[in-house]
Amino acid sequence: MDDRTSILVAGATGTVGRRVAARLAGMGAEVRALTRDPRAAGPTPGEVVRGDLSDPASLRAAVSGVGAVFLVWPFATAEGLSAVLDMVAEHARRVVYLSSAAVRDHERQAERLIGRSGLEWTSLRPHAFSANTLAWAEQIRNEGVVSGPHGAATTAPIHEDDIAAVAVRALVSDGHVGAEHLLTGPGLLTQAEQARVIGEEIGRPVRWVDTPVEDARRRLLARGWPEQAVDGVLRAQADLVEVPGPLTSTVEEVTGTPARTFRQWVADNADRFR
Ligand SMILES: NC(=O)c1ccc[n+]([C@@H]2O[C@H](COP(=O)([O-])OP(=O)(O)OC[C@H]3O[C@@H](n4cnc5c(N)ncnc54)[C@H](OP(=O)(O)O)[C@@H]3O)[C@@H](O)[C@H]2O)c1
Repeated sequence: MDDRTSILVAGATGTVGRRVAARLAGMGAEVRALTRDPRAAGPTPGEVVRGDLSDPASLRAAVSGVGAVFLVWPFATAEGLSAVLDMVAEHARRVVYLSSAAVRDHERQAERLIGRSGLEWTSLRPHAFSANTLAWAEQIRNEGVVSGPHGAATTAPIHEDDIAAVAVRALVSDGHVGAEHLLTGPGLLTQAEQARVIGEEIGRPVRWVDTPVEDARRRLLARGWPEQAVDGVLRAQADLVEVPGPLTSTVEEVTGTPARTFRQWVADNADRFR
C-alpha cells in the first residue's frame, strides 16, 4: 500500500491507537485520528476527525477517501459492525483489526464479519497489555502494595507501542493480508513478579498481597463493571495460574525489532507509579 494514502485510525485517543497514529504520522503518512469528541481528544497526531463507531452515518466524512483503517471495536457485541464495514469498504481497501488473544465470542464474530467484508484484513490478537498494570498505580503510589487475587497468574505483558508497530506494518505493507497475529511481550511473569519489577524501577519496594477472589469481585462490581465481565476476567486470571498465557516472537518477526520487556514498559511509565 502507498504510504501516502490517508489512513483512518479508530481508537486514536486510546492506548494502542494513539501509538498507531503517532507512528504513521512519524513516517509521513496522512493520518485521520477518529474520536467521538475532538475537544476532549488532547494532542493527537494527524487530522482529528469526529465519528462514533456505534453510528455508522457519523463516520461518512471520516472514511471518505481513506485507503486503510485501523479498527478498534470497543463494544461487547459485534452488532453494528457490518454497517461500519460496508461504509469502510466503499472507500478503503484494507482493515487492521485490534482483536484479542482471548478471541471472545464478539471478537470471533467481528473477525468473521471482517473476513467476509471484501476488505484486505489483518487481525491483531494481543494478550495482556503491560498498560493494564496502570490500574495498580494509585495503590502503589499510596501504599507500595498491589492487592488482588491470583498473584501467580502468568502472562507475557506487551508494550502498546509494539502492538502499534505491528499494526503499522500491516497497514502499509502487503505481507500481512489474512494474518492473525498472536502478540505478546518477550517474557512470562506472574502478577506478583510484575509488581516487584515496578518497585525495582521506581526505586521503592512494591509488594503483592493475595486477597480472596470474592473481595475483588465485589470491588469491580462496585466500580460499575458488568457482572459477566467481572466473572470473565476473574476466571481468565484463575486459568492463568494453572496454565501461563501464550509467549510468541511475532513482534520481532513482523517488525525486525525484539518486543520490549515489561521492565522497559515500566521504565517508560515510571512517573505514573511514583
Ligand atoms: N487490555 C488488554 O490487555 C487487551 C488485550 C487484548 C486486546 N485488547 C483490546 O484492545 C481494545 C482497546 O484498545 P485500547 O486499550 O487501545 O483502547 P482504550 O485505551 O480503552 O481506548 C478506547 C478507544 O476507543 C474509542 N472509542 C470508544 N467508544 C467509541 C465509539 N463509540 N466510537 C468511536 N470510538 C470509540 C475511544 O475514543 P474516544 O473516547 O476519543 O471517542 C478510545 O480511543 C479493546 O477492544 C480490547 O478488547 C485489550
